[in-house]
Amino acid sequence: MSKISAAITAVGKYVPDYVLTNQILETMVDTNDEWITTRTGIKERRILKEKNKGTSFLAINAAKDLFNKIDIAPKDIELVIVATATPDMQAAATSVYVATQIGATNAFGFDLVAACSSFLYAISTASSFIESGKYKKILVIGADMNSSMIDYTDRTTCIIFGDGAGAVLLEANIEGFGVQDEYLRSDGSGREFLQVPAGGSIEPTTEQTIKDKKHFVYQDGKTVFKWAVSNMADVCQKILERNNLEINDINWLAAHQANKRIISATANRINLPLDKVMMNIEKYGNTTSATIPLLLNDYEKQLKKGDNVILAAFGGGFTWGSIYLKWAYNS
Ligand code: UT7
Repeated sequence: MSKISAAITAVGKYVPDYVLTNQILETMVDTNDEWITTRTGIKERRILKEKNKGTSFLAINAAKDLFNKIDIAPKDIELVIVATATPDMQAAATSVYVATQIGATNAFGFDLVAACSSFLYAISTASSFIESGKYKKILVIGADMNSSMIDYTDRTTCIIFGDGAGAVLLEANIEGFGVQDEYLRSDGSGREFLQVPAGGSIEPTTEQTIKDKKHFVYQDGKTVFKWAVSNMADVCQKILERNNLEINDINWLAAHQANKRIISATANRINLPLDKVMMNIEKYGNTTSATIPLLLNDYEKQLKKGDNVILAAFGGGFTWGSIYLKWAYNS
């Protein structure tokens, strides 16, 4: 019997309508377009403004976009994984609500929470389910409403993050396409450098935690930056070596969009020309779990069947890693 692999066979996306530009941010905090552009590459980000809507709203719309593009019945989906750092609420998984709302009523669901590497880890998890032979169709949605945990008076974080969602359908493939290899890492000594300190079990919400602004993202940007550059390059190098790939064999790098300088530095370190590096950070900023599926969606027309694609991410925790896949279709 041929080996079963998990191949991405469709993509979809959703970003909210409201565009928060660098010019608008200039009126909110002491910053300027030139600083943001040169330090991060970001020009604008999308923000979900509708009341009583959360990450599930983004995820549902990304899934609907995917379903509009291909002929598949939501009832055929067996598992829905929502990769997110901003679930709708504690205890009740966002994915379960999403599955029901999109009509995936035969699926079960769970959330995968690993900061900016959530989508990467979710692809690894979903592909293992498929490789086992037990499941054939899994929907993985990277979705984050970062604006729900950003302090819009803190110029060190509010210029970076945006809201959005990207969805991919993974299907069993016996022709050698799809996920080929992965190299995933984590190091808990990094959690002090990027976190939302309160609201979890260590420091539940109190009047004081709210006064102290402990429900917002805190980041030591410089430390995270250094770790991100060296570790993303390392895992990309590792996955190339393990699979006997020369740099010329790589068609695309889809790296987490946290900072244009981090992405360019990673590409430089592995000698990958920038025209093979997917980039859309200027439009959306850092959408955490959504960056990689948003890239795959935005570059879908340029991706060709058989292309060698490297996914890479680095984020809070710390968590990071790379996945090597062979693109499975022409759009
Ligand atoms: O996705 C999860 C993983 N996260 C990341 O990968 C993010 C990694 N870190 C970064 O991308 C960068 O560190 C930042 C974009 C967050 C910051 O860029 P930086 O080049 O590391 O700047 P910095 O923090 O060293 O700040 C340089 C200066 C400081 O002023 P002084 O102390 O030199 O006078 C900051 O106060 O820039 C100042 N600054 C700003 N100035 C204008 C910080 N934020 C701003 C701002 N506008 N928004």
